[in-house]
Amino acid sequence: MRLNQNILLLGKKVVLVPYTSEHVPRYHEWMKSEELQRLTASEPLTLEQEYAMQRSWRDDADKCTFIVLDAAKRQAQPGHSEESCMAGDVNLFLTDPGDPSLGEIEVMIAEPSCRGQGLGTEAVLMMLLYGVTRLGLTKFEAKIGQGNEPSIRMFRKLHFEQEVTLRLMMSEPERQWLLEQTSHVQEKPYREGTSEPC
Ligand SMILES: CC(C)(COP(=O)(O)OP(=O)(O)OC[C@H]1O[C@@H](n2cnc3c(N)ncnc32)[C@H](O)[C@@H]1OP(=O)(O)O)[C@@H](O)C(=O)NCCC(=O)NCCS
Repeated sequence: MRLNQNILLLGKKVVLVPYTSEHVPRYHEWMKSEELQRLTASEPLTLEQEYAMQRSWRDDADKCTFIVLDAAKRQAQPGHSEESCMAGDVNLFLTDPGDPSLGEIEVMIAEPSCRGQGLGTEAVLMMLLYGVTRLGLTKFEAKIGQGNEPSIRMFRKLHFEQEVTLRLMMSEPERQWLLEQTSHVQEKPYREGTSEPC
């Protein structure tokens, strides 16, 4: 979204800045990691696609993103490019057009050396604040893969409560299985001989 395109949020450990084309090469390098692709449920993109993604993040009204900068590195290297202090990103998606008060939050501290120092926590807190005060959000969700313990623990510490969503992906084998299990089921008119409800 365009709302945050000229906003910098200054925290203690992190500085949040809008995602611009300047950040794309580093971001693209990060996302070559198969581990990060798995943890963030992302598909690998070409550099071109990554630039297109950055533009869509900026332009689409239902997405808000900030790049997470390591505040200590930024302070130690004034005048250096932001690329050298990039630690990750934090995003909000307005996932439900029928409920504009709901935001899905995602965070990634991609630089391994930046993890475990509270950067993820502060980035999420700052994004929650932005969501509440600037976007009018009152409900947040975080979708985390099962087994991603660091992330589950972090969101629990941030007062997120766990619900269980069981998901069935209707792949072709699953579809065949469903058809086999239900091969006895017949579809018929509800009332024989009439098409109108009585
Ligand atoms: C999950 C992630 C964002 C955590 O960021 P971080 O900056 O390293 O986390 P913090 O230092 O703020 O830690 C906050 C809490 O998270 C939990 N945590 C973080 N790293 C952990 C680890 N390796 N093992 C277990 N718990 C961990 C702890 O409860 C920690 O609190 P504590 O230090 O008081 O014990 C980061 O590991 C990451 O980006 N992972 C890959 C991407 C991902 O999984 N994103 C989530 C999808 S929404």
